[in-house]
Amino acid sequence: MLQVNNVSKVYEGKVAFRALSEINLSIEKGEFVGIMGPSGSGKTTLLNMVATIDEPTTGEVLIEGNNPHSLSRDELAKFRRRELGFVFQEFNLLHTLTVEENIVLPLTLDGKRVKEMKQKAAAIAEKLSISSILTKRTHEISGGQAQRAAIARAMIHQPKLLLADEPTGNLDSKASKDVMEMLAYLNEQEKATMMLVTHDAQAASYADRVIFIRDGKFYSEIHHGKSRQTFFQSIIDTLSLMGGDDSDFSPIHRQ
Ligand SMILES: Nc1ncnc2c1ncn2[C@@H]1O[C@H](COP(=O)(O)OP(=O)(O)O)[C@@H](O)[C@H]1O
Ligand SMILES: [Mg+2]
Repeated sequence: MLQVNNVSKVYEGKVAFRALSEINLSIEKGEFVGIMGPSGSGKTTLLNMVATIDEPTTGEVLIEGNNPHSLSRDELAKFRRRELGFVFQEFNLLHTLTVEENIVLPLTLDGKRVKEMKQKAAAIAEKLSISSILTKRTHEISGGQAQRAAIARAMIHQPKLLLADEPTGNLDSKASKDVMEMLAYLNEQEKATMMLVTHDAQAASYADRVIFIRDGKFYSEIHHGKSRQTFFQSIIDTLSLMGGDDSDFSPIHRQ
């Protein structure tokens, strides 16, 4: 459903910087793929190309065979809103709204009826175990609940592709585990295709497959075998083979 063909990204500036070099990857419908690499390796850049937030310098991104970067500005905004879901490290909830109002935001923008929005919010909140906090405001809930609300908002319109950039970056290990279990559950239940950028090995171990990049280049790829614990160990091994600054990954404290 997603193809990244020979994508390179050069950030122009006083000194041009090549953040990605000829990246190729494809993600099947319903797959859950993790992208890992040291800090500065180009993970967010890659996610932004797929998210259509930024454009590749060369190469192309195809989502279900179409290149979203060739759409007009208005069409692109609509495409992003309807077909993609986003989850970020900072949750990005609006503080003046309740949890429920935040969750239905993508539907509000599309002018859906209130009754339909409320039903959908109740259904997704139930799946994410946040039914009891729907009327609360963002300062009244925990980080883990905030991220689950953000996931509900990202999933309420059943996007083709959910894109998550370090979704556990601001969470403690218990909340990280909860959030990753929710993502894995939604991937299975809703057959949602997911791309997860993370430097958290524990989080990445919930994916079906992890792609490693280093210095903007493809490094290797490993698949989820029988158990998550074994997969976690292979991820740790690959990270240490890759070298770089170990403190980037901090895999151990999540154990
Ligand atoms: N807008 C930008 N302009 C210039 N350089 C950038 C920009 N965004 C990111 N970079 C550089 O590109 C490299 C990759 O960044 P990024 O994709 O954010 O890495 P990661 O998410 O893996 O930490 C880094 O060296 C970063 O400094
Ligand atoms: Mg990043």
